[in-house]
Amino acid sequence: MTHAEVQLRDNGLIAPLTRGETYFNYHWLRDACPTTIDPQTRERVFDVTSLKASPSARSARIADDALEIEWANEDHVTRIPMEKLEAFVANGRKPDPADLPRQLWYAGHNAQFRRVSQAEVEGTDEGRARLSRALIEEGVALVTGMENSDESLTRLVNCLGPVTPTGEGHYFEVRLEIEPTNLAFTAGPLEMHTDLPGEEMAPGVQFLHCRANTVEGGFSLFLDGAAVAGALREEDPEAFELLATHEIPFFYRHDGWDYRAWQKVIELDARGNVSGVTISQHLQEDMDLPQEVLDSYYPAFCKFIRMMQDPRFVCRFRLNAGECIVFDNHRIVHGREAFSADSGERHLRGCYTDRGATWSTYRTLATKGHDGLPVATAAE
Ligand SMILES: [Fe+2]
Repeated sequence: MTHAEVQLRDNGLIAPLTRGETYFNYHWLRDACPTTIDPQTRERVFDVTSLKASPSARSARIADDALEIEWANEDHVTRIPMEKLEAFVANGRKPDPADLPRQLWYAGHNAQFRRVSQAEVEGTDEGRARLSRALIEEGVALVTGMENSDESLTRLVNCLGPVTPTGEGHYFEVRLEIEPTNLAFTAGPLEMHTDLPGEEMAPGVQFLHCRANTVEGGFSLFLDGAAVAGALREEDPEAFELLATHEIPFFYRHDGWDYRAWQKVIELDARGNVSGVTISQHLQEDMDLPQEVLDSYYPAFCKFIRMMQDPRFVCRFRLNAGECIVFDNHRIVHGREAFSADSGERHLRGCYTDRGATWSTYRTLATKGHDGLPVATAAE
C-alpha cells in the first residue's frame, strides 16, 4: 500500500488519515511520542519545555502503519501508530470508555432502574461495571440485597471509590432527631433538591442505604434533572440560558459551620449538553444577582422549580429495607414525602463518593472487557 506524502509546515505537519489530510502541531506530536511515557509509572517523563528550540521535523513519513518523524535540533525519532492518530481525531480527544451518552429518563422509570445485588457488585467485575455504567448513563441505580449493617455500605461504596467526607463527616443517618440540623432529619416533606450545594464542590455520587422503612408515607421522589433541563431548553430557551449562565448562592450553616458557594442551576458539559443541575431551596441564600437581572432570572427559576413538580418527570416509590439507591448528585434531584412519625421506623444511612472515582472504576473494568451492559430480561 502506498501512502500519500506527509507535508511539512512551519509549526506542524499534514498527515494523510482515512478521513483526509489532517494537521498536527509539532509540540503536540513531540509530546505524543510513546517514549515520553515511563512504562513503569505510566507518567510523562519528557518535558517539552526542555527542548532548546521549538520542535520541528527534519523529515516525516508513514512507515509500518506509524507516523515516523525525524526531529530537527534533536537526535530523536518519534513513531506514533496511525491507529492512535485516527482515534484521537475521530473523538477530538483521547478515546474514553466512560464517555457514554446520557440516557434521559422520565416518570415511571423507577421500575426500570438498573438493579444489581450487593453480592454481584462486591464479588464480580461485571457487577461493578453494571453499577458504574448505570451511574454514567442514567445517573441512578438500585443495589439490592444489602446486608443490614453499617459496614455493608462502606464495602459497597469502596467498590466504586473512597468515601468522600463533607462538613457532616463521612456518613450521615437520615432518621428522626430531637434537635435536627437538617430538614432531612425530621418527619416533614423534603422538597426536590441536590445535596450540599453550599460546599465548594458538591458531593458527586450519593448512596442511601435503606435500613428500615415501615412508616406510613415517606415515599421517595426522584427525577432526572438533565431531562427536566432539556425540556426547559426546548420550551423556553431564554429561561434555560439564564439558569445555565448565572451563579446563585447556597449555604450550609449551623453551629461551627458556615459553608457558602455559588453554583449554576443548570450545568453544561464541554459540548454544551446538560450535564446536571444544582437545586436546593432549603439551602439557598438570598439571591445576589443584580436586581434588574432578577426581573428575568426569578421567573425562569420559578418555572424550572415548577417543572420539577410536573408528574411527567417525577418517579415516586417506596425505598425498601435492604435496598441502596445510588445516584449522581450533580444530575439526579431527590426529595421525600412527609411521613407519620409514630407509625414505624424509617432509617437511611448515607454517604458519598467521587464521580471521578466512579468513572475511573468503569474505565478500568471496560478496558478489561467488562462493558457493564444491563442484562436483558424477558420484559425487554
Ligand atoms: Fe438529600
